[in-house]
Amino acid sequence: MKILRILGFIVLGLVVLGGALVSYMYISTTRRINATYEVPEVADIALPTDAASLAEGQRLFLTVGCVGCHGANGGGMVMADEPAVGYVASSNLTSGSGGAANQYTRSGDWVRAIRHGVSPDGKSLLLMPAQEFVNLTDADMSKIIAYVQSLEPVDSNFEPNNLGPIVRAVFMAGEVDMLAAEVIDHETVGPWDVEVGSTVEYGEYLAVRCASCHGPALDGSLPPPPGGIQPANITPHETGIGGWTLEEFKTAIQTGTRPDGSSIDPAMPWPYYSQLTDTEVEAIYKYLQTIEPVASAE
Ligand code: HEC
Ligand code: HEC
Repeated sequence: MKILRILGFIVLGLVVLGGALVSYMYISTTRRINATYEVPEVADIALPTDAASLAEGQRLFLTVGCVGCHGANGGGMVMADEPAVGYVASSNLTSGSGGAANQYTRSGDWVRAIRHGVSPDGKSLLLMPAQEFVNLTDADMSKIIAYVQSLEPVDSNFEPNNLGPIVRAVFMAGEVDMLAAEVIDHETVGPWDVEVGSTVEYGEYLAVRCASCHGPALDGSLPPPPGGIQPANITPHETGIGGWTLEEFKTAIQTGTRPDGSSIDPAMPWPYYSQLTDTEVEAIYKYLQTIEPVASAE
């Protein structure tokens, strides 16, 4: 019976150790979530008020990708709500009850959130990919903010975000950047100096938004969100979009039809990319011709 007692102690030891690891995970991730950031004073930027700029702000809200998480009305949504994953809601950006616009009184408040990922209380926003918006020009940023401020009020009733064990484990493993303010260099971030035009440089600016799903190398190797669809290789390799003409590329990203006639899943935001201008599509196409061709992983 001695052996059973020893086994019993081993099992007990493992349970205690497992519990300690989980506690450590909760303590360390909670500390990171609650950390505050010293952000240099964020200057206000002039916000346009004319109808054309607001319409452009809406187009940017859709094509830069805010809509994917904050919804077309800007009211936010519950993005996850299950024990293992936790509860995550994107913010209500409007001036309705529970909306950020009530708290964000000057344009610099919006810029601090969108470019630095820091909320008014000095903490990092959670799962808000501000690191992808750091390069937005002031011209684009100001139109997005002006549009967001013009949204019809939506009332929301979200609970505070609370991450579950699986997401905390992924967070600890460093697989995903969940706290934008942690990865942004607050001293040096700033808008890119780039002019609108069908140029490689402008295409590089625009393609930052493609990298959030297609991965930093745009080779489609970034894992999709749980249950999502694997993004495609969009490098100029023959297993990517190497042989595609500009017209074929345009049809694919604006109507969701590949050169062979097959359909692209709307997990690829082509329904919104129908609002990209010809200049933007050409710039992205030109830029994609210049990046490193990578063979698709099979
Ligand atoms: C991948 C999803 C995602 C995308 C894309 C996204 N957001 Fe967010 N955003 C979030 C989440 C989640 C939060 C809530 C963060 C929190 O509660 O800590 C948030 C919070 C915010 C906040 C802070 C509001 C507050 O309550 O203090 C602002 C402002 C904001 N987002 C603006 C934008 C804008 C503008 C865009 C597009 C340029 C955008 N977001 C794109 C997920 C996203
Ligand atoms: C929200 C995530 C997301 C964003 C942002 C995104 N894509 Fe995609 N894209 C996908 C997914 C997922 C697929 C694969 C769809 C499928 O398999 O049907 C895809 C497929 C494609 C395809 C089809 C390629 C093929 O061989 O099938 C092209 C082209 C493409 N994306 C280009 C772009 C460009 C250019 C951008 C930026 C302007 C972009 N995508 C931004 C998710 C995204």
